[in-house]
Amino acid sequence: MTTFEPGFLWGAATSSYQIEGAVAEDGRLPSIWDTFCATPGKVDNGDSGAVAADHYHRYPEDVAIMRELGLGAYRFSVAWPRVQPLGSGAADQRGLDFYRRLVDTLLDNDIQPWPTLYHWDLPQPLEDAGGWPERDTALRFAEYAQIVHEALGDRVAHWTTLNEPWCSAFLGYATGRHAPGRQEPAASIRAAHHLLLGHGLAVQAMPDARVGITLNLSHVTAGSNADGDVDAARRIDGMQNRIFLDPLLLAEYPADVVRDLEPVTGFGFVQEDDLKTIAAPIDFLGVNYYSPMLVGHGTETRPSAYVGSEHVRHLDGGRARTSIGWEIDPRGLLDLLLRLDREYPDVPLYVTENGAAFDDEVHDAGRVAYLDGHVRACADAVSRGVALKGYFAWSLLDNFEWSFGYAQRFGLVHVDYDTQRRTPKDSARWYAGVIRRGGL
Ligand code: FCB
Repeated sequence: MTTFEPGFLWGAATSSYQIEGAVAEDGRLPSIWDTFCATPGKVDNGDSGAVAADHYHRYPEDVAIMRELGLGAYRFSVAWPRVQPLGSGAADQRGLDFYRRLVDTLLDNDIQPWPTLYHWDLPQPLEDAGGWPERDTALRFAEYAQIVHEALGDRVAHWTTLNEPWCSAFLGYATGRHAPGRQEPAASIRAAHHLLLGHGLAVQAMPDARVGITLNLSHVTAGSNADGDVDAARRIDGMQNRIFLDPLLLAEYPADVVRDLEPVTGFGFVQEDDLKTIAAPIDFLGVNYYSPMLVGHGTETRPSAYVGSEHVRHLDGGRARTSIGWEIDPRGLLDLLLRLDREYPDVPLYVTENGAAFDDEVHDAGRVAYLDGHVRACADAVSRGVALKGYFAWSLLDNFEWSFGYAQRFGLVHVDYDTQRRTPKDSARWYAGVIRRGGL
């Protein structure tokens, strides 16, 4: 049997727009995702998060499910457009009250609340003013962070600023696959910087809090030893991993990435002291991992999320895939954790998302196998000395999977969207067993 330390934190994760619904209730105004979903052709099947899993009304039932599973922590996100509907100015207490109720219900059930302040639902007025490519958005984010921290700081111990700034910057502003759907490569680099700056300013705005950030990192390998393939892997590692890790943990942008980006943009938007702000010490790094990447030299295709490296080709690693098309490779998670431990040694790690989309409904052997493999990879990492402190499965519930709409189900718990009935899948029972035993 593989066991973890008794203090190892077992959780599950969700995000506001993917589960809450109630998009026009209690003062909430549109976010960029409401606007994006209302734009024909952007989301499969014309789906939107308008109702989603109706968690805004059903959170007591959802917390009861978490308790049944034995979760030690619940990672959720706070919807900025509920708390500060215009993205600036006064807070709406009704929005904050929802999170007060949620947090209290969690605590009553001995589940640690792990809020993330930003999981992609930017208030639309801030996008109308230019969005993340504008420096002011970072300042607005810090103000919002302070509001939420003041409201919940007495009850919440661990805070996460951003979820996956890579997606916000490069899917939002380079490929346009995510809201706000812009295809402006140079602006996407400014967005990445201002997201990082917003993180740093938010850390300052929440004194005495334990704060981290969640990145979607990947283990990147070259398709062969040929120079072009090796360079492709260096570039993608740069644009997926190091462009965020290095400023956060080493207070610098990687020189090779800055060079790769020269034809697209200079870094003149980085002001004095920005990197100092961004590299403020954090208490933990959240790692979201789903799939590894195998890359090689190819021909230019635009738009690409890998700005400045549009010629890189993504290769088939020949492994089985989940229904969303992502290759399954737990070894990639182990390699990633070992690498983080080696190159960025001083920060405790949590896997803040890991999971699989499968079409099966309640008997989800594929998901159980996926989770089992990845939890084993975590155990391996811990046994090799990696400071990995917890694991959050994505996701507690089936939910709105962004541009894929409701077709891709990641939940441990099945949601019937017609009736909102929740049914724990086999994977939920399996996970409850892992938590109970403290291992596999
Ligand atoms: C991550 C997101 C999360 C979910 C999973 C499948 O990139 O953070 O919201 O969509 O992927």
